[in-house]
Amino acid sequence: MRTNILILVASLAIAFTSCQKSDPEFNQVRTIENIDGLHTGRVLFYDKQLSVNNTTACASCHRQQFAFADNVSLSTGFNNQRTLRNSPPIQNLRNDNEIFFPGFTTGNLLFWDGRESNLTEMMLQPMVNHREMGIYDLEALCDKLESIDYYQELFIRDYGDTSANLITPGRIAEQLSSFVSGITTFNKMDNTMFGMNLSPQEELGRQLFFNKYDCASCHHVTQFSGYLPQDTNAFANIGLDVVYEDKGLGAISHNAKDNGRFRIPSLKNIGLTAPYMHDGRFSTLSEVIDHYSHGIVNHQNLDNRLKNQFGSSAKFNITDHEKSALISFLNSFTDFNLITNPALSDPFVIKSK
Ligand code: HEC
Ligand code: HEC
Repeated sequence: MRTNILILVASLAIAFTSCQKSDPEFNQVRTIENIDGLHTGRVLFYDKQLSVNNTTACASCHRQQFAFADNVSLSTGFNNQRTLRNSPPIQNLRNDNEIFFPGFTTGNLLFWDGRESNLTEMMLQPMVNHREMGIYDLEALCDKLESIDYYQELFIRDYGDTSANLITPGRIAEQLSSFVSGITTFNKMDNTMFGMNLSPQEELGRQLFFNKYDCASCHHVTQFSGYLPQDTNAFANIGLDVVYEDKGLGAISHNAKDNGRFRIPSLKNIGLTAPYMHDGRFSTLSEVIDHYSHGIVNHQNLDNRLKNQFGSSAKFNITDHEKSALISFLNSFTDFNLITNPALSDPFVIKSK
């Protein structure tokens, strides 16, 4: 007992004398103990070893408690660099949109500018994006993962393959997109269709949202994705700035008419995903409502749905009472099952080295 204490004191002393060793994580490893029933994509999603210096996982920016969004305006990547945009929630994304939208092949609109639609194909992008995870060489990443015991076990279990090409970029993408497309969410509003009632305050907010202020002309809150991927009006300029630093869709289409147009975001779990907008400029829903109330500026691409009858920016002059009702309605979109679902949580256990 006494020797144990001495060893403990001695190791603490060593730990405090070295900067690196004083890091509480230095003597700990994050590992997977039991792969039974574990989705490989879930392990990949939470694994910091997917970044070049083992600091950043997908889950560093897409955090379950915030509906897989981040709670800062811009997130921090592997090298302490900031992302260029606000990390969006991950929810209700599909590999197989055909099932939900028969006849349409546009699929998801991924990213704030909708530049990708195929979930599996976009999956490897965050890893090769230097701001996020710093991986430039996917083959090197595969070699790295092959040297980790639990990936050996997981990929052999999934693919029944023991060859040298056990872990490939394609298989990583397949596993990640399968996990990510399984992150689905339902809220009170979805249940309203099945007879579940909103509180009087939420109901007032619903009426303002659908009727008086017609927020629903853009935000399709009752849809699975919260927006209509096949809708040519799925993008809008909502008059945030006179000149947009980030051109949004305009930077992709190179058409000046698209400058400042961004994908109309899903409002599912909006109460969890602050801060708001593509650059996270608003920290609260109250600030968002103030924007629609009296902050819309006259950008030349301002969406018609946000103009008054004279063609300039609308001022909704939303009263405090109405604002509270709108916020209650927006908060009713929170799905607590999503943020507590153990099947979507961090599967790693922390062990001493
Ligand atoms: C450093 C932060 C960061 C990391 C790490 C990160 N992401 Fe993201 N993610 C973002 C940002 C920011 C965006 C939005 C980028 C844009 O719109 O241009 C995004 C967008 C996405 C989207 C599109 C969501 C939508 O609704 O359009 C998906 C899916 C996604 N990320 C999955 C992942 C996966 C899987 C990983 C790990 C392989 C990952 N991300 C790692 C910050 C991050
Ligand atoms: C013309 C279409 C349009 C209308 C009408 C509209 N919105 Fe939006 N809304 C958008 C777009 C586009 C964004 C993202 C803009 C950006 O980031 O540049 C957005 C962003 C938001 C966000 C933040 C979402 C996030 O994830 O950051 C909230 C909340 C919101 N709107 C609520 C409302 C409410 C409430 C109303 C009605 C008073 C409304 N919107 C009316 C298009 C619209």
